Amino acid sequence: MKAIVYTQYGAPEVQQLKDVPQPVPNDNEVLVKIHATTLNRTDIGFRKPEYPVIIRPMHGLLRPKRTILGSEFAGEVAAIGKDVTLFKTGDAVFGLSTYKFGTHAEYICIAEGASIVHKPHNMSFEEAAAVCDGLMLGTNIIRMVDFATKPRVLINGATGSIGSACVQLAKYYGAHITAVCKGEHTALVKALGADEVIDYTSADFTKGTEPYDAVLDAVGKSSYFKCKSILKPQGLYISTELGYMAQNVFLTLAKPLLGGKKVAFPIPTDSKKDILFYKELIEGGHYKAVIDRTYPLTDIVAATKYVETGEKIGNVVLRVV
Ligand SMILES: NC(=O)c1ccc[n+]([C@@H]2O[C@H](COP(=O)([O-])OP(=O)(O)OC[C@H]3O[C@@H](n4cnc5c(N)ncnc54)[C@H](OP(=O)(O)O)[C@@H]3O)[C@@H](O)[C@H]2O)c1
Repeated sequence: MKAIVYTQYGAPEVQQLKDVPQPVPNDNEVLVKIHATTLNRTDIGFRKPEYPVIIRPMHGLLRPKRTILGSEFAGEVAAIGKDVTLFKTGDAVFGLSTYKFGTHAEYICIAEGASIVHKPHNMSFEEAAAVCDGLMLGTNIIRMVDFATKPRVLINGATGSIGSACVQLAKYYGAHITAVCKGEHTALVKALGADEVIDYTSADFTKGTEPYDAVLDAVGKSSYFKCKSILKPQGLYISTELGYMAQNVFLTLAKPLLGGKKVAFPIPTDSKKDILFYKELIEGGHYKAVIDRTYPLTDIVAATKYVETGEKIGNVVLRVV
């Protein structure tokens, strides 16, 4: 099969189209013929690598242990192992292969109990490929907010993959949402569920006077110290980035010193149960895929360079077939 392979860390060009053996499913595995996948910020982080002190020990000290990146997929079941009962050949499926990667390829094998479920009937393969990673990271963040009293939530980077998922999830749970993005994206974030929009090119959201129950920085461009004055006394700050000197990890542990305010840094996890929840959200009309550009898998280098600008809106899809 064709796959995008990288055998060394480095520039976008280390990713090359190669012929590799097609995987064969174990007894409990499903072989998926991938129709669409994505190129996301996690792929970028593991290729360069970003945060080498964390990535190299877990993914290969000198060179990557897993040589095919990509974590999101949507496609068709091409074969099943003899013990598989949840899927049959021809089923349309979608899901995530978070830390195992391997979706920048024509085929992947995935255990039937892992993060794979039937594709939502109201999405194309390309749309279905572009929801799970943002939703996983968004869900990990949003689950830390208390929605019992219609909280006021500010989401910075509301147009990104994670940010657009956070806006839609916060809307679903009933928050009052202030989205921060470039002014030209106001209509998009309002359509996703934002009640108010702050254009960060003309206003500094950290200087606001109406405090928030939670500030969710989906692009990691702020810090707890810049945001603490806009948090309510028991307010919560969450960022997707570690912050200067990994401060967000230390602040998570320093709760007694923050005078009632809290910082959280969730570690992403995925599960079949979560993917089933995403399917329910989508089929219930509560969630839309936000897709910026679509490239053929063979244009991986161009797609990578675009994602690395840090300015993609939502998701960048790779078409495999
Ligand atoms: N913690 C984790 O496990 C984890 C996993 C994956 C990714 N991440 C991190 O999460 C962050 C977001 O990832 P993503 O894929 O959602 O990002 P992304 O899609 O690359 O985010 C790009 C968006 O950020 C907005 N943006 C750029 N500069 C901004 C600024 N100064 N203020 C506000 N918005 C700004 C842009 O929108 P506008 O044009 O509207 O500005 C663009 O839509 C990245 O920093 C990534 O490294 C963390």
